[in-house]
Amino acid sequence: MAWDPAQYGLFEAARARPGHDLIAALPPCKPATVVDLGCGAGKLTMALANRWSAAEVAGIDSSSAMLGRAALLDARVAWELGDIRHWTPKAPVDVLFSNAALQWVEGHGTLFPRLLRGVAPGGVMAVQMPRNFASPSHTLLRQLAEDGPWAAALAGKLREAPVHDPAQYYDWLAPIAAHVDVWETEYLHVLDGPDPVLEWTKATAMLPVLETLQGAELADFTERYRAALAAAYPRRADGRTLFPFRRLFMVATRAS
Ligand SMILES: C[S@@+](CC[C@H](N)C(=O)[O-])C[C@H]1O[C@@H](n2cnc3c(N)ncnc32)[C@H](O)[C@@H]1O
Repeated sequence: MAWDPAQYGLFEAARARPGHDLIAALPPCKPATVVDLGCGAGKLTMALANRWSAAEVAGIDSSSAMLGRAALLDARVAWELGDIRHWTPKAPVDVLFSNAALQWVEGHGTLFPRLLRGVAPGGVMAVQMPRNFASPSHTLLRQLAEDGPWAAALAGKLREAPVHDPAQYYDWLAPIAAHVDVWETEYLHVLDGPDPVLEWTKATAMLPVLETLQGAELADFTERYRAALAAAYPRRADGRTLFPFRRLFMVATRAS
């Protein structure tokens, strides 16, 4: 995926907030090792490194563009190009963190227990993923992808529900966890600017479309999606746009 750190950074505060909420939900601990999977441009990795300044902290990401931004932040963190699908820790880690990344990886039924097995006894795995795939931002994108001259090119590129029901994650993690806490929060992001939901999704959900279509076809797709989003997310009286966004959180403590 052609991740664009500048586009992703447009709504930095709103995007980072669930990550900070996840960090705040971590139990008190003094980890020696912390890993941030899908660390992106590294801002949350830095928050982890600042919280535990004595810990060895690594940020793993498969996008060299995102990691390039992260590498500018701080040399205390080991920034590593890597793919979560094949990642295993050299030694069990004390805090395994992932914000808004694992929804891009398939096979959660095997991935999540495998990741928790990489956590040291008594250590924690903390994950946040969007669970807004039934929201207009995503349903309109999928409908449009299926209904136009681009349908064949886009077939199978937009996944319908990459994130499962909350209870499913409990069932996958509980057999090897001492404690599993799963919850959801729906944020009401307040966005500035023209077409902010389009600008938001251009950095994430729309990436498969941006990678596949080109030229006039991409311009046509984008304009139709923009118009549909503008109707679904009308501007408020103050000119801003409200973007409801449901997210799934989990913090699992590895059994001793
Ligand atoms: C939405 S960004 C989130 C970045 C960061 N965690 C944050 O909250 O700001 C998702 C990140 O996951 C990374 N990613 C997606 N699939 C990945 C994979 N299979 N292996 C490693 N990184 C992956 C992307 O490159 C991207 O940087």
